[in-house]
Amino acid sequence: MIQRSPDSLADRLIHRWFGRRQGELTIEGLGVRELAARYGTPLFLYSAEVARRKLQQLREAFSNLEVYYSVKANPAAAYLRCFVQQSCGLEAASPGEIHQALASGCPPQRIVYAGPGKTEEDLEYALAQGVGAIHAESLGELRRVAAIAGRREVRAPVAVRVNPDAAVQGGAMRMGGKPTPFGIDEEQLPTALDFIKSAPTLDFLGVHVFSGTQILDAAVLLSQYRRAAAIAIRAAEHLGARLRSLDFGGGLGVPIFAAEQELDLAAVRQGLGDLSRELRRHPLLASARCMIEPGRFLVSESGVYAARVVDVKTSRGKTFVITDGGMHHHLAASGNLGQTIKRNFPVAVLNKLDQPSAESANIVGPLCTPLDMLARSAAIPAVEPGDLIGVFQSGAYARSASPLGFLSHVSPPEVWIEKGRDQLIRRRGQRDDFLRDQVDEA
Ligand SMILES: Cc1ncc(COP(=O)(O)O)c(C=O)c1O
Repeated sequence: MIQRSPDSLADRLIHRWFGRRQGELTIEGLGVRELAARYGTPLFLYSAEVARRKLQQLREAFSNLEVYYSVKANPAAAYLRCFVQQSCGLEAASPGEIHQALASGCPPQRIVYAGPGKTEEDLEYALAQGVGAIHAESLGELRRVAAIAGRREVRAPVAVRVNPDAAVQGGAMRMGGKPTPFGIDEEQLPTALDFIKSAPTLDFLGVHVFSGTQILDAAVLLSQYRRAAAIAIRAAEHLGARLRSLDFGGGLGVPIFAAEQELDLAAVRQGLGDLSRELRRHPLLASARCMIEPGRFLVSESGVYAARVVDVKTSRGKTFVITDGGMHHHLAASGNLGQTIKRNFPVAVLNKLDQPSAESANIVGPLCTPLDMLARSAAIPAVEPGDLIGVFQSGAYARSASPLGFLSHVSPPEVWIEKGRDQLIRRRGQRDDFLRDQVDEA
């Protein structure tokens, strides 16, 4: 028999955020078997309670900072509404995300708009909607915003995203401190600021620094924040003016792979306290609104992707568990969203949580590619068709970061669970969806 460690990451997550009833996973008291029967499989299940508790954790540690939820992590309207109702702003990175943010009831001035490659049309749209800040990612973008604002006879609220001149190591995916399409290189910051000074149509708010995602080390996070504060001070001193905003970005991690540990929020809290005091003492930073824009930290743990076992087969001595879900719904779990080495997301057999691991199985999806592997050599109980495989940490960068059209399987529904009640928030796709946007040649 293969021993699954009793404190596997899946077990820890179940213990922390979910429940078990006679070997079955429960989410806010609801059994997954019944949910799977009601909505069909595969499907995404989201717990509002977990998302709320994550926000609470964050606010306790980051008490002086405003929270802007990063829509790209999961744009489902239920999440956006949940965070907006709890006074979060939203960070959007496309007109589509701005549109969804507005539809969720977010006041436009509580939206910040980041991301490279904003077209003139995108910028026109953002300004027309009255977003709170455009985070400029290049000098060219600053020039375009200034010109468009001039044409519209408005002042555009802008902040500058800065790519620091040296990376702080430690995140899973570095987005700064090296040549990147993100932000204005720190070396070019004086030029950008001089342009802003000379452009009457730009209303300069401050600085945004975000260099990496999935950071689990409090020391790394804090050194990034200190770096961001130093850049902000330099910018303010260069302009000889007060900054109104300082955005520390997202990037807070959650444990996804075996042996990863949670971010030490108490250490972050302490380090941030010192940094905030320093900033408050600086005459040009004292009144700046400080903010963070996390995605993954807020929603990852609240989501479970559940797929049903369709077939179990052995090929040359290896067990393959074939499910009705796969990488087309959850690219990250298949290891094809930025991982260099395939590591397993936490998985469990959701209706056999009380059974010991019996085999080391490859859990795969129905796509005709070897990339479609949800978990490699996973230690799970013996399974049969009909059992439910769950992938945890599926609230962030899962459905919306997946190639939903690949192989034309219909897209999975999303179910929101709040106060013990389930609600379909996105219907399952239909085969006609694949025909809908096509233009008939005849
Ligand atoms: C500009 C910006 N803000 C926030 C985020 C959210 O990052 P995370 O989900 O790691 O917190 C991202 C992610 O890529 C981003 O590009």
